[in-house]
Amino acid sequence: MLRQFRSDVRTVFENDPAARSRFEVVFTYSGVHAIWAHRLAHGLYKRRWFTLARVISQISRFMTGIEIHPGARIGQRLFIDHGMGVVIGETCEIGDDVVIYQGVTLGGTGKEKGKRHPTIGNNVVIGSGAKVLGSFTVGDNSNIGSNAVVLREVPDNCTVVGNPGRVVKRNGERVGDRLDHKQLPDPVIEILKSMKKEIEDLKKELRDKGKPNTIEEGEWTDDHFDI
Ligand SMILES: CC(C)(COP(=O)(O)OP(=O)(O)OC[C@H]1O[C@@H](n2cnc3c(N)ncnc32)[C@H](O)[C@@H]1OP(=O)(O)O)[C@@H](O)C(=O)NCCC(=O)NCCS
Repeated sequence: MLRQFRSDVRTVFENDPAARSRFEVVFTYSGVHAIWAHRLAHGLYKRRWFTLARVISQISRFMTGIEIHPGARIGQRLFIDHGMGVVIGETCEIGDDVVIYQGVTLGGTGKEKGKRHPTIGNNVVIGSGAKVLGSFTVGDNSNIGSNAVVLREVPDNCTVVGNPGRVVKRNGERVGDRLDHKQLPDPVIEILKSMKKEIEDLKKELRDKGKPNTIEEGEWTDDHFDI
């Protein structure tokens, strides 16, 4: 247990350049407090003391802003940075050396029963505000960009960004179907462009037939429409 405790503190120093002293980590890092509370709650959950486990989890949530369901299975050296707003669901499994930033949800879609939360591989980084929803796997060494909404399996060694989340890098190489954030289509502009083209075509047709294309009020005749 003491070894585990030391490992938790070391993990903070490895991941957070802002950490200054062990004292500071032990007394002020809410991510570490949430993990300690979760170990206690998970132990009770495994012994089927569900309500007490849940009470501990809720007290921890009140103190840290991090909600980890007592049923969630968490590997070694998890680092939750800042932590506020993190939610980790009951059937979630997290591998070793994972980093989770504030506002991350590892949740369900509401459509699945049984195993309904994601399985996170080893050495995964999940950026602030990211939502990973459903019972699929996020592969080892993958990065989930901040604010991504991931709804499908992520292979190993990938970077996923956007909503819905798309793989933009795999094994360090850019992936073809990446989301081009600078080229998002604008449907209003597309409609205006097509209307402009249609007006130009009509004007040309009127010109070709020798009819004026600017019509003063009161000059409308059926001829103008006879094109
Ligand atoms: C995704 C992330 C982990 C970087 O992973 P990476 O594999 O090094 O990816 P890159 O930086 O090479 O980015 C790949 C592409 O995705 C884009 N991208 C990166 N993060 C993104 C995000 N969160 N949302 C949208 N696009 C993103 C990059 O602009 C780049 O696009 P480009 O190829 O057009 O230049 C990082 O951007 C991230 O989001 N980290 C989370 C950090 C965080 O939450 N910090 C909180 C501190 S309090």
